Amino acid sequence: MKKQTWQIPGDFILGAAASAWQTEGWAGKRPSQNSYLDMWYKNDPHVWYNGYGPAVATDFYNRYKEDIQHMKEIGLTHYRTSINWSRFLIDYETEVDEVYAGYIDAVINELITSGVEPMICLEHYEIPAVLMEKYGGWGSKHVIDLFAAYAEKVFERYGDRVKYWFTFNEPIVPQTRIFLDAIRYPYEQNTKKWMQWNFNKALATAKCVRLFHACKPECREGAKIGVILNPEVTYARSSAPHDQKAARIYDLFFNRVFLDPSIKGAYPDELMELMAKHDILFDHDEEELSVIKRNTVDFVGVNLYYPKRVQAPSRQWNESTPFHPAYYYEPFELPGRKMNPFRGWEICPRIVYDMAMRLKYEYGNIEWLIAENGMGVEHEERFKNEEGVIQDDYRIDFISAHLREAMKGIADGANCKGYMLWAFTDNVSPMNAFKNRYGLVEIRLEDNRSRALKKSACFYRDIIKNRRFETEEFRYK
Ligand code: BG6
Repeated sequence: MKKQTWQIPGDFILGAAASAWQTEGWAGKRPSQNSYLDMWYKNDPHVWYNGYGPAVATDFYNRYKEDIQHMKEIGLTHYRTSINWSRFLIDYETEVDEVYAGYIDAVINELITSGVEPMICLEHYEIPAVLMEKYGGWGSKHVIDLFAAYAEKVFERYGDRVKYWFTFNEPIVPQTRIFLDAIRYPYEQNTKKWMQWNFNKALATAKCVRLFHACKPECREGAKIGVILNPEVTYARSSAPHDQKAARIYDLFFNRVFLDPSIKGAYPDELMELMAKHDILFDHDEEELSVIKRNTVDFVGVNLYYPKRVQAPSRQWNESTPFHPAYYYEPFELPGRKMNPFRGWEICPRIVYDMAMRLKYEYGNIEWLIAENGMGVEHEERFKNEEGVIQDDYRIDFISAHLREAMKGIADGANCKGYMLWAFTDNVSPMNAFKNRYGLVEIRLEDNRSRALKKSACFYRDIIKNRRFETEEFRYK
């Protein structure tokens, strides 16, 4: 296939992402400052690949200057990370941990002086463990208010320097793993709790948007607030009405459940009806719905990794099984699909274009960016050349193929403002730990976590500099 050259708009964001808990490690963390993930890891270290958890992570807490130098070397225009809520406060009411807050200050300043614009997320699964134990976590309305109080303190401290804010990263994920599929600690299957957490997080986003807009005059000009969602672009197996229905309902439960309240300020009627029918409607009142209505996000981050393919269910639902949206669908595996076998995710770059068109036509062409996209590969050391540099051509192909879809979308009027690669460095992730490596920068665990740029880092540096890249047929098999 002939190579094609793509131009990238001059102001298009080309950055990389990470989160606090996946990089920082526990250095300087007080024993009382466990997050949900720390608690889970401490209870169940054996379910984390090779026993690696958040304890040391990439040691960013101690090595952020070195890492920011690498960002500068690559030329990242933006870096997205989170503030670790479980570390930012001591009592989770009023008392700020000044040591941690000072560290965040230093990281933000170092990024800015290095020419890398910070993007800050308020929660990347880092809910304090004590709020889980005391109040049941995001099931509690009080926790929403504690989160808003935390957000206010963060805006006050860093609002003069940070232009891009996000409330949550993938707000649907923790409760889907905990309460819907019951594969994460404490393994409680409870679909109603799942939906309550979904609602409370949508409400928390709206409350933070309200606060942020109220404090905006003190914040730097042009600052905005959004949420990072992970809608799975859903394809029905066929055009037959029963497969179409399966895809529509999947989309309602897993995508529109956040897209609609965050961007349109209201839940879809059909979703409300389904929740009532299956007795999982969240506890809410008119005032809360009106807060959601009046405080929609300024922009949205979208994490895009794989498509979701569904078909109508072929089996009978067991009457004694609690309701799960899978009542309406079952997964469909497209024959011949390209796979990332390490992660078990289908590779389908077209999802970027399709999401771009959906946001254009169904969500008022809201400003958005690809907040995460990337390819996790196991045992990357086997791809090292003689100089010890990982030759990750598969990642270069992956990035190019997805960026191409973004460029096609922009040419067709999409309001897509950037691409953030997951991830800047290899890092730890829930259960997969350091198994699948995503970074532009390798973390050599066996060598005191030393850093080494991969081939993809040089590729990324070149496209950031030249604003141009080439694609040919996606070669990864
Ligand atoms: C994203 C999350 O969905 O997936 C990240 O926002 C996570 O936190 C990434 O690390 C990759 O996950 P995994 O399980 O493939 O390492």
